[in-house]
Amino acid sequence: MKTQVAIIGGGPSGLLLSLLLQKAGIDSVVLERQTKEHVLGRIRAGVLEQGLVGLMRDVGVADRLDKEGILHDGTVLSYGEDRLRIDFREHTGTPVVVYGQTEVTRDLYDARDRLGMDTVFEVEDVTLHDLDSDAPSVSFTKGGDTVRIDCDFVAGCDGFHGVSRKSIPASVLREYERVYPFGWLGILSETPPIHEELIYANSDRGFALCSMRNPMLSRYYVQCSLSDKVEDWSDEAFWDELKRRIPSVDAANLVTGPSIEKSIAPLRSYVCEPMRWGRLFLCGDAAHIVPPTGAKGLNSAAADVHYLNEALRDHYLNGSDAGIDSYSARALARVWKVERFSWWMTSLLHRFPDQNDFDLKMQQAELAFLRESDAARSALATNYVGLPY
Ligand code: PHB
Repeated sequence: MKTQVAIIGGGPSGLLLSLLLQKAGIDSVVLERQTKEHVLGRIRAGVLEQGLVGLMRDVGVADRLDKEGILHDGTVLSYGEDRLRIDFREHTGTPVVVYGQTEVTRDLYDARDRLGMDTVFEVEDVTLHDLDSDAPSVSFTKGGDTVRIDCDFVAGCDGFHGVSRKSIPASVLREYERVYPFGWLGILSETPPIHEELIYANSDRGFALCSMRNPMLSRYYVQCSLSDKVEDWSDEAFWDELKRRIPSVDAANLVTGPSIEKSIAPLRSYVCEPMRWGRLFLCGDAAHIVPPTGAKGLNSAAADVHYLNEALRDHYLNGSDAGIDSYSARALARVWKVERFSWWMTSLLHRFPDQNDFDLKMQQAELAFLRESDAARSALATNYVGLPY
């Protein structure tokens, strides 16, 4: 096989990149290790920045998002019984859109199907070759056959555990990491959301988040111990714990019901540098991970995709490699600011096992300053709605 850009990974970043390239007349092939059903079964965060919404519009995939996405003009932070609202619209003029990442992925697949764009699912043994030459290639096996794709470039959109980052020589790669000493236990339930906006709660018992997907589907999380198992948490125990971590005025509005999904996710901050090696470009989780506080995972992947799309357009349409040469530095400049914000939100709102009284006072002072300072709330809002590309 032959293509211009081989895209490793059929998650939202790879799919979005393929559609943006297609619009510019650039040919690509998407390889995915799992089945489509598996990809669409993954539940991720559900808050979209305007930048990502704009990219979805650019590729003509925003109809359902425009209809079903819920605009949020602000969010609530709580500390015990104290509530503080951050007004995005007042500080930035911009709302965020609540729409599940799973739905974004579904819309991107549907658009690719309409355009007759093929995805190769269930590929195994994906190997990247000659990335530091002018003629890279990708090989994989599928159903016992070995296939090779000759290409000009490889886009590594295959997540934290994918092969792309591992194809960069260890002598070149620098890694930066923080692993947090707790996880998030999340449930999805077919119940009306507790409040019209998200509630991020810090409490003596730990962090909790009240989120939503639509008017009859809610997503809730509580900070849990890394040794906890999903089986340890009955629905009843979850609801009980959630209620104790949020202000009582909100707890009074909680509608509980059976969970339709329950899972535990660890929290990690991670960045690798550089994000380009030869003809390989990393996008999204393949290069960086954020803890979910602030919902930046997909949004920061979308910014990478935007930079890479511009770089490849410049190469193919304008004969300039300036974008390719600056891709890593441009993407990382934004990535680090998003890492900082996600780390800051996580540090502000969670209870750390080794936290002493001084650390607790720092969280309280930070929240008091947010309450009193327009500038502090504006900084939070600016980061939450999304830094410019
Ligand atoms: C979610 O709805 O799953 C969600 C929302 C906001 C976050 C993280 C997760 O910060």
